[in-house]
Amino acid sequence: MAGAEDLQHLIEKNARWAERVVKQDPDFFRRLAAQQAPEYLWIGCSDSRVPANEVVDLAPGELFVHRNVANVVNHSDLNCQSVIQFAIDVLKVRHIMVVGHYGCSGVNAALTCTRVNGVADYWLGHVRDIACRHQGLLDLEPDERHQLSLLCELNVMEQSLNVCSSQTVVDCWARGQALTVHGWIYGLGDGRVRHLNIAVSGPDDVGQLRQQALHDITAARKASAERKRLGDTVPASR
Ligand code: CO
Repeated sequence: MAGAEDLQHLIEKNARWAERVVKQDPDFFRRLAAQQAPEYLWIGCSDSRVPANEVVDLAPGELFVHRNVANVVNHSDLNCQSVIQFAIDVLKVRHIMVVGHYGCSGVNAALTCTRVNGVADYWLGHVRDIACRHQGLLDLEPDERHQLSLLCELNVMEQSLNVCSSQTVVDCWARGQALTVHGWIYGLGDGRVRHLNIAVSGPDDVGQLRQQALHDITAARKASAERKRLGDTVPASR
């Protein structure tokens, strides 16, 4: 029979963590309880290997976070859209980063049309739509592994553009409030975040942004493949 004590080890870990924090900074929790003033909203994948705060080494209070399977930003998802609205209108964050990751199993399921046999299949339909939209580009990749990494990048691009065209963001820019939307991708294998050259600070034409981002993504992938061909083992940083 399962009971509350099953998770006792986590409650004990929590107590030790809180003690450690207070030891370093006695006022830490009192200060945080009074208010939060994060500058950033992180929209990422629920994957347990991509913990938002740790990845960018930020303390509690510094990062507002929304995570779901495959970091999808859907216009009719009241959960995600409410987080975006709260972040912009109430917390007045200056930056939103949409953070995908290579090797995303949600994106992989969408790419390979693998059924999860449940409601997640509907959710991943949003990523399948992106694969269909960019099928021509995906077909140019040499194998499925490369297709997956490209689709992970394209998914970040499309979800970033969905943030840019969300009503809250459109209204935010219209009234002159500073906000930049960034597209990032995280490497599970090296713990590094790469910027996908997506950084939008105003109501630019989304179609044009997509063309520019597609150009940058494919150019960077070509450069990276070329470096690999030449035996350069330095990881691509961009
Ligand atoms: Co994922």
